Amino acid sequence: MDKVVILDFGSQFTQLIARRVREAGVYSEIHPCTADPEKVKALNPQALILSGGPSSVLDPASPALDSAYLEWGIPILGICYGMQLLSHNLGGKVVASSEREYGRAEFQAMNDCPLFEGVEESDSMTVWMSHGDRVEAIPPDFEIMGRTESIPFAAMGHPGKRIYALQFHPEVAHTQDGALVLQNFLFKVAGLNPTWSMASFVENTIKELADTIGDAKVVLGLSGGIDSTVAAVLLHKAIGHNLHCIFVDNGLLRMGERQEVIGFLEEHFELNVKCVDAADEFLDKLDGVTDPEKKRKIIGHTFIEVFDREAKAIDGVKFLGQGTLYPDVIESESFKGPSAVIKSHHNVGGLPEKMNLKLVEPLRELFKDEVRRAAYELGMPEHIIWRHPFPGPGLSIRVVGAITRERLEILRLADRIVQNELLASDWYRKVWQGFAVLLPLKTVGVMGDDRTYEHVIALRIVDSVDAMTADWSRLPSELLARISNRIINEVKGVNRVVLDISSKPPSTIEWE
Ligand code: XMP
Repeated sequence: MDKVVILDFGSQFTQLIARRVREAGVYSEIHPCTADPEKVKALNPQALILSGGPSSVLDPASPALDSAYLEWGIPILGICYGMQLLSHNLGGKVVASSEREYGRAEFQAMNDCPLFEGVEESDSMTVWMSHGDRVEAIPPDFEIMGRTESIPFAAMGHPGKRIYALQFHPEVAHTQDGALVLQNFLFKVAGLNPTWSMASFVENTIKELADTIGDAKVVLGLSGGIDSTVAAVLLHKAIGHNLHCIFVDNGLLRMGERQEVIGFLEEHFELNVKCVDAADEFLDKLDGVTDPEKKRKIIGHTFIEVFDREAKAIDGVKFLGQGTLYPDVIESESFKGPSAVIKSHHNVGGLPEKMNLKLVEPLRELFKDEVRRAAYELGMPEHIIWRHPFPGPGLSIRVVGAITRERLEILRLADRIVQNELLASDWYRKVWQGFAVLLPLKTVGVMGDDRTYEHVIALRIVDSVDAMTADWSRLPSELLARISNRIINEVKGVNRVVLDISSKPPSTIEWE
C-alpha cells in the first residue's frame, strides 16, 4: 500500500493535511519534524509532505529540514513553512516580512504546473494564506509555478526532481480546489494509487494485530464508548478469546448503559467481557465531594486501582489495548507548535506505566468520524455507532455538587427522557451531545393544590464538530416543551426544567 509521510513543523493544519490525503484514498502518517530520518525512511514512504509551521527559517533556533530527506529522490510537497524550508535548503532566498499575510489571496497558476491541472479558475484561484516570511528567490533549477498580487513566488517546483512547494494552504476548506491540488500531487506528481479504504484498513489492522500479539493475552478497558468498543472488536477478530475486556461499572453510568453495551458485544461478537461492579467503591470515595476537579481525580485513581486489580487476576497478560485516536497521539507526540493542545481529559492516564504492559492501539491512525466508518465496516449497529460522547467521570460531573445515589437516580430518569425524545424526533444524530444536568438547588413549584420545593434539571444540548467549540442547539420549541413536560411529570423530585443557552467558549459543554 502506498504511504505518504507528513512531517509536522507545528502547523495548526497538519492534521487536516493527513485527513485530505486519506480522503483521497492514500494512507498517511504524521511524524514530528524532529523524527530520525532513518526511522522515517524505514517506513518506506512513497512521498513526503512538509507541513507549515509558526517558525521562521531565518531564526537558527527554528526546526530545520534534515537534508537526508532530499536525498531519497521521492516526491516532496512543501506547504507554507515547508516551502520556505525547501527554498532555504536548496539555495533559494527567504526574507522576513514586516507584515503577516493572513487570509484569502488571489493566486495565478503558471507554467502548466501539474498541481493545478483541472482547477477551474487557475488564473485566479482563491487561496488561503497564513505566513510572515516569504520566498524572495527560488532555488536554482526551480520554476515559478504561481504568484499572487503580493508575492511573486507563491508556488514553485522542480518537475525533474518531483519537488513542489506552495506558500498557501491547500488543506484548508477556504482554498478553492485545495483538495484537488493535493490529489494532483499524490496522483499526477507522485503517481500513487488510491488503495486505502476503511475496508482495507480493517482487514490490515486485524492481520497486523494478530502478528504482533501472537498467542499473548491482551486486557482492554471497555467503556462502551465507540472508541474502546471498536478497538475491542478489532482485537477480538485478531486474537479471539485471548482478548479480555474489563467493563468497570463505576455507579455513574446512564440508565441501562451496562446492559446495552455488554449485551450487544456478548451477543454479536462473543466478546470476552468481565463486568466489574465497583459502584460502591467509587460512590463511597465520592461521598461528600463537591469540587469538580476532585471528583475527576478520585474517579481516575479509583479506575486505575480497580482495573489493575482485575487485570492482574488474569494470567499471562502481556498487552494493554486502548482505543487511542489520532488526535490523542498527535497531542502527545506532535512537534510543539501551536497545534499542540494540552489534553485535559485523561481518563486512564498513568495506566500503562503502572501496569508495565506493552500498548496496542489499533485506532491510533484514525479520526473520530473514521472510527465510526470502521464501526460500520465491522457491522456494528447504528445505535452504538452514533451514541453521543460520554465523559469518563460519567454522571458525577452532571450531578452538580454532592453526589448521592438518590440524586444520581433522579438524573438518570431525566436523562433517559432527553435521550428518548431526541431519538424519537430524529434530533439525536443532528446534535453533538444532549443530556440532562441536575443542579444543586431546589425551587418552589405548585402541583395540584400543593406547594412543592424540589430539584431543577438543566438541559444541555449542543452542536459541535470536535467539542473544542460548541453552540447550543436551536431545537424546535415543541420538542423542548415535550422534554420539559415529561421530566416534570414523570421524574419524582423535579419541578423545574431550564435550558442552557451558552456557547463554548466561554462556557464548557459539561457543567463541571
Ligand atoms: P467540555 O466540558 O470540556 O467537554 O467542553 C468537551 C467534550 O469532552 C467530554 N468530556 C470528557 N470526556 N473525560 C472524557 O472522556 C472527561 O473527563 C471529560 N470531560 C468532558 C464532554 O462530554 C464533551 O464531549
